[in-house]
Amino acid sequence: MAGLNAFEENQETKVIDTTKKVRVGIIGTGWIADSHIISYLKQPDVEIVAGADLVPGKAEAFFKKHGVENVKCYNSDEEMIADQKNLKLDAVSVCTYNRQHAPCAIHALNAGINVLLEKPFTVTTEEAVEVMRAEKKSGKVISIGFQPRLDANMIMVKNVVQSGVLGQIYYIQTGGGRRRGIPTPFGTTFITDETAGLGALGDIGCYSLDVVLNAIGYPKPLTVTGYKSAFFGTDPNYSNYVATGHPEYAKKFEVDDFAAGFVRLEGGIILDFRIAWAMNINTPGDTIILGTKGGLRIPSTDCWNGTIGGDLILYHEVAGKQVETKIPQIFPKPGDPTNFDKKIRTFLDAVKNGTPAPVPTSQILYNQAILDHICKSSNVGHEIPVVIPEI
Ligand SMILES: NC(=O)c1ccc[n+]([C@@H]2O[C@H](COP(=O)([O-])OP(=O)(O)OC[C@H]3O[C@@H](n4cnc5c(N)ncnc54)[C@H](O)[C@@H]3O)[C@@H](O)[C@H]2O)c1
Repeated sequence: MAGLNAFEENQETKVIDTTKKVRVGIIGTGWIADSHIISYLKQPDVEIVAGADLVPGKAEAFFKKHGVENVKCYNSDEEMIADQKNLKLDAVSVCTYNRQHAPCAIHALNAGINVLLEKPFTVTTEEAVEVMRAEKKSGKVISIGFQPRLDANMIMVKNVVQSGVLGQIYYIQTGGGRRRGIPTPFGTTFITDETAGLGALGDIGCYSLDVVLNAIGYPKPLTVTGYKSAFFGTDPNYSNYVATGHPEYAKKFEVDDFAAGFVRLEGGIILDFRIAWAMNINTPGDTIILGTKGGLRIPSTDCWNGTIGGDLILYHEVAGKQVETKIPQIFPKPGDPTNFDKKIRTFLDAVKNGTPAPVPTSQILYNQAILDHICKSSNVGHEIPVVIPEI
């Protein structure tokens, strides 16, 4: 267990060695790649040297939009990595849709390139294990793109839990969602099985799980009872399809827009979880962590946005009296690095210093296993044991 938490989120590199540049390539130049390049361009020790996208001309247009010149563009990750002798990439950001996470990460690791892989880790547990086998063989750094855990409030949640003030933790309720928020602004890559594989589960569910699992030290999931549905996504009258003139998306919708899971974790902890892209309520509830000495309430946001919806509240006893302690929400100050900046910087530091990945696969494997086993349990209609192949 100790190894899982070798990395401390509040580690900061004080002085950046600008004589040592990191040569970076970007695989997949869609929506999220914008956040990666914006943060890379703020770093004094990065050279963006290559990019790849399956859509011809997309990578070229992406670099032009960001004013980055002298970048070699390719029509797939494989084409780009085949040119590694010339490119001499130190690192790639894998910003492809979910189904292309595992193959792109494996290709890069096999070529000896460090990887910052967007979330969710993969679609299935088996794919995550394959990536970890490639990681082990390569000895390279692979970090998963969970920037919300670098948010000051999420670090506070972890610090409160790790301080021991809650005593022995035995029950956690977490999740979140949106009333109407199936992400189709740029087409259907989030909703078809061929590209996404997972819906709300993989898009925002993985974050809700990370908030609590990271705080409690990522215990192993043992069994899962899962449920998923797609009542909104498959309805041509879904309000956002109507508003954007795309009722045909209903026929393309092949993933979950709501999911829930009841998970037994190692150490006798119960995790009760639900997540939604669309639902007829504002929020499925605050995150709560119950322990023998205290309970923590983490107010939810109406729409998942990577932070918390208000002050944390600690419920405990002092001298036999039941009391509540308010832990004020922390807001970023102007000029503070964004969580994305921190995600990029911590990854670069790990690459340059050979230190552990900021968001290690050894943790996120359990996150992925929960998502995947919710799907598997939902498909068979009963509780199942969590099976993770040897790495
Ligand atoms: N961390 C975050 O806050 C955050 C936010 C949004 C999305 N994401 C994640 O980022 C990923 C991408 O999301 P998006 O919204 O940018 O999707 P997108 O569909 O806009 O872009 C993905 C791009 O990858 C390209 N691509 C796919 N396979 C490829 C390959 N083998 N080689 C080269 N290019 C390839 C596609 O052509 C497409 O242009 C998703 O997995 C999503 O979960 C993360």
